[in-house]
Amino acid sequence: MIVKQVLPEKNRYMEEICDILLTEEEIAKRVAELGAAITQDYHDILSPDTPLIIVGMLKGVTIFVADLMRQLQLPVHLYFIDIESKSENTRATGLIELDAKLGDAIAGQHVLFIEDMVDAGLSLSYVLRMLGLRKPLTLEVCTMFNKSNNRIMDIPIKYVGFELQDKYVVGYGLDSNELYRNLPFLATLNAQ
Ligand code: IMP
Ligand code: MG
Repeated sequence: MIVKQVLPEKNRYMEEICDILLTEEEIAKRVAELGAAITQDYHDILSPDTPLIIVGMLKGVTIFVADLMRQLQLPVHLYFIDIESKSENTRATGLIELDAKLGDAIAGQHVLFIEDMVDAGLSLSYVLRMLGLRKPLTLEVCTMFNKSNNRIMDIPIKYVGFELQDKYVVGYGLDSNELYRNLPFLATLNAQ
């Protein structure tokens, strides 16, 4: 793998970082392309009364959604789902409850679900079923990073930023034990 961005030397915070897979510039270029594609697809069917309802899955998506929504020349509303913090409950009951406000907001609307990374696709598949129950007019998925080789569930994803190999990556919102979400690039970690 080629290191495309010089790491600041003697930065102890960076010691675990191995290769930079995507630079800040490459990521920004791709986000702009995705924004243009989404703007084109939706711009004739939305109005300020019927905006695009963007729903993101916390926390990894925060960086991507902040960048992407500023590339959309569309009326949008923004919501988040937090299933990570409910994982204890989820394990116990197998259920994630949708915020009632979100349920009302997506009924009869154009909904774009945004993810940082789709890997096996289990959580996304479940959330999409939950969102579908609220009868959105349309429901599409946009993910910045995709490991389609690892997929267990068959999920139609309309917008994909980058296809990745099966390697654990950090940065641009993605974490390792909560660290590294703030790296502006996407990187692999040294073997531990
Ligand atoms: P899955 O699609 O249900 O397997 O889960 C996808 C989620 O796992 C993503 O939204 C990330 O939170 C996390 N994840 C998967 N692969 C990585 C990775 O390489 N780095 C950081 N988080 C990852
Ligand atoms: Mg996630």
